[in-house]
Amino acid sequence: MKKMIIVFALLSIAATASADPFPKGNAQTGQQLFEKYDCNSCHNSMMGGDGNRIFTRVDRKRTSPEGLVEQISMCSGNVNAHLTPQEIQDIAAYLNIFYKFK
Ligand code: HEC
Repeated sequence: MKKMIIVFALLSIAATASADPFPKGNAQTGQQLFEKYDCNSCHNSMMGGDGNRIFTRVDRKRTSPEGLVEQISMCSGNVNAHLTPQEIQDIAAYLNIFYKFK
């Protein structure tokens, strides 16, 4: 009986690990928001022209889905965007093209 429980626990961990971290986010909407707010305006100058490189640099700051969401809310203040939780999920889903969180 105990063994069954352990196997089940392991299976559910495996299922969570491969799940989409932003199931409610729409990457296409996220990209539109990202462009609308010109999110790369600062990142571009920081990364020598290609702002997207900030998301794939080796020493990138955000290493988890939660961290990514947190950074999006922080950075949205930079552009005075009052993003809804849904919009943050959308942008996270878009940026996960670079982060590839599972
Ligand atoms: C006023 C300038 C500025 C604007 C505008 C800006 N950012 Fe940022 N962003 C930064 C800075 C500075 C960092 C790097 C922080 C660090 O290195 O600790 C950063 C880092 C990030 C990161 C983390 C990169 C990493 O290392 O993992 C994400 C994600 C991000 N920004 C998303 C956004 C989004 C989404 C928007 C638009 C809503 C946006 N940013 C607009 C300045 C800006």
